[in-house]
Amino acid sequence: MIIYDKKAAQNIELSYQTPEIVRQRNQTLEALALRAGEQVLDVGCGTGLLVHDMSSTIGLQGRIVGVDFSNDMLELAKKRCSEMTNVQLQQGSITQLDFADNSFDAASCIQTLLYVDEIEVALSELRRVMKPGGRVAIIETDWRGVVLNSPDEVMTRKILDAWDATVSSPNLPVKLIPLLKKLNFSAIKTTAIPILNTSYSEVNFSSGMLAYFSSYAVKNNVISNEEAALWMKQIQDLSKTESFFFCVNRFLFTAVKVDV
Ligand SMILES: C[S@@+](CC[C@H](N)C(=O)[O-])C[C@H]1O[C@@H](n2cnc3c(N)ncnc32)[C@H](O)[C@@H]1O
Repeated sequence: MIIYDKKAAQNIELSYQTPEIVRQRNQTLEALALRAGEQVLDVGCGTGLLVHDMSSTIGLQGRIVGVDFSNDMLELAKKRCSEMTNVQLQQGSITQLDFADNSFDAASCIQTLLYVDEIEVALSELRRVMKPGGRVAIIETDWRGVVLNSPDEVMTRKILDAWDATVSSPNLPVKLIPLLKKLNFSAIKTTAIPILNTSYSEVNFSSGMLAYFSSYAVKNNVISNEEAALWMKQIQDLSKTESFFFCVNRFLFTAVKVDV
């Protein structure tokens, strides 16, 4: 299980400002097509990057509520959005949302459901608090589909398997369409968002992710610190021969709540 403490919050803060994730946020905003005056919910809002971007679109008559389980993540979100009067940030869980039925015109849940054990409860809660006709955007990653050039395949498998075991649903994208249908969402659309890096750089999403993967494998006693450091070095060195290759797919799901 991942604890979103101060250190994790700092990691996300850096990793989610890389160009790949900025592009993903822009795609999310485009898909939600927010309008001035709307009531919007972002569950698992993290450090508030998406909430911040949404705030200017909905204007002063609108309201954007960010909910997150972790107070350390919320602390950074509050700092980021301190001057935005249409933003409300609060602690809570997606499995028990503290809002009345039919409260929101639009909702987002980005890279959060994979950590949740009770996915159906979470999606039902999301649906409950949305108004009829409300739009939802969900993004999840297919972590089982990481494509990585690595000189040590055995070590890579160990590290990726350790990550797989750390989160509740490492391959949630393949299950989301039937789940959304079961819970009476309609107009479901899916878009792949590939994250491709062909060079190793601190400013790329993959550099942070590879460090994160290996640190979790160490934390879970799957590999030693030395093995993690060697694995990272071998992968970084691939850039010298222009052989670095990392790719993973994220998926954006959009859907609408119809009243049944
Ligand atoms: C990888 S971060 C994504 C943050 C944000 N959505 C973004 O894309 O920038 C996952 C977030 O989900 C939050 N989270 C995990 N389980 C949650 C739950 N049951 N309810 C609400 N938030 C949760 C974590 O605290 C963390 O802030």
